[in-house]
This record gives sequence, structure tokens and C-alpha cells, in this order.
Amino acid sequence: MEVKYRGAEAIVETGLWLGKKAIFKTRNKRGYRHPILEKKLVKERLRSESRIIERLISSGVNVPAIYSVDISNNCIIMEFIDGITLEKALRGDNFEKYLAQTAKLLSLLHSLNVVHGDPTTSNFMVTDSVYAIDFGLSTVSDDNEDRASDLRVFLESLDSHHSEISGRDIFLSYYSEWSRSTSVLEALKILELRGRYNLMRG
Ligand SMILES: Nc1ncnc2c1ncn2[C@@H]1O[C@H](COP(=O)(O)OP(=O)(O)O)[C@@H](O)[C@H]1O
Ligand SMILES: [Mg+2]
Repeated sequence: MEVKYRGAEAIVETGLWLGKKAIFKTRNKRGYRHPILEKKLVKERLRSESRIIERLISSGVNVPAIYSVDISNNCIIMEFIDGITLEKALRGDNFEKYLAQTAKLLSLLHSLNVVHGDPTTSNFMVTDSVYAIDFGLSTVSDDNEDRASDLRVFLESLDSHHSEISGRDIFLSYYSEWSRSTSVLEALKILELRGRYNLMRG
């Protein structure tokens, strides 16, 4: 196995699973909670993460297939998406195409009542098309404010990493093709106004 990524929450390794290249994502033990409670919480998260991914797969959404969930080792084994992160892809040509696909993907998640929770540009992978990964903070919700918060996280990560391109308008115009997007976009406006107001007040 080869370590691909070591984050605060998880370690991501590549290896073989039944002869296929796979991702082994192991959630770290945090250490500061009550150990039994901690074990329970990590398990709950892992179950919920894999349940949400299964739900998306059965709806035909572009997410990595789950090969196995190893509860005792806090590990999800999943399909290796052989591509680059969206963050990287947006630095090349075709950024409009990728933004469009990401907007459609996120609206598809939302239409299935899944809120991603952390849709930054490093939580999408680009191959022939765009895939969503990292469902560690995902929830099942049909709340338009939750959906708007997904949009805000994405737009902020666009802004901080890709300020040279006017991604915002492109992204929102494709998201708004979803028939139920109007209320989400209204909620986004309120969320952003509130954010600016709080900034002003310091
Ligand atoms: N299924 C996958 N296929 C290919 N690369 C992946 C996959 N899952 C994760 N990665 C890589 O590992 C990185 C971290 O994984 P991620 O699930 O986002 O963990 P974290 O919760 O620590 O952010 C991703 O940004 C991506 O580069
Ligand atoms: Mg991530």
C-alpha cells in the first residue's frame, strides 16, 4: 500500500482490492474523546458515509463504488478514480466544462436529498467526467439552507483557489438549471448577506 494523502481526519492509501486498484480511507482516532464513545461515533460516521455513497451509486451518480467497509479498522475500501482533483483541473483549459459538470453533479446530489457537507474543489475528481468524493460530512437533508451552505462552500473554495476565472457565474448558471434551484439560490443570497453583515460588525 502507498500513502496518497494524510489529512487531519483520515489517511488515504492506494492498494489492490481483489486485483483492482483501490483507495483505502482510514479515519483517524482522535484521542480526546471518551474511548468507547469515540469508537461508537467513528463507526456511526463510517456507516453513514458508506450508506450515503451506496444511495448515490444506486441512483447512478458519479461517486466511487464501495468495495468494502471494514468497521473494526475504521476503513472504507473504494474504487480508485484515476484522475486529478477538480482543483487541479480548473487550472487548465476546459474549466467551464468542469464547472458545468460539477454544478450538475451537486444539483443532482441535492435533488436526491444528499447534502455533501464539504464540497471544496479538492473533493471532486476529474476523469472523463467529474466525480464527487469525501462524503465524511454528508447528511441526508432536503433543507434549502443546507443546500445553500454547500453552494457557499464551493464558491468560497473557487474564490480562494481560482480567482482568475469568473467561475461563480458559470457555476451558478448551471446549478440553476435544476428545476428546484430557485429557493436554494434565494437561501444562498441570505446566507451571503448575513456573512457580509457579520464581517462588517467584526
Ligand atoms: N476514490 C478516490 N479515488 C482517487 N483519489 C482519491 C479517492 N478518494 C480520495 N482520493 C484522494 O485523496 C485525497 C483525500 O481524500 P478525501 O476523501 O478528500 O479525505 P479527507 O477527508 O482527508 O479530505 C483527495 O483529495 C484525493 O486526491
Ligand atoms: Mg477531502
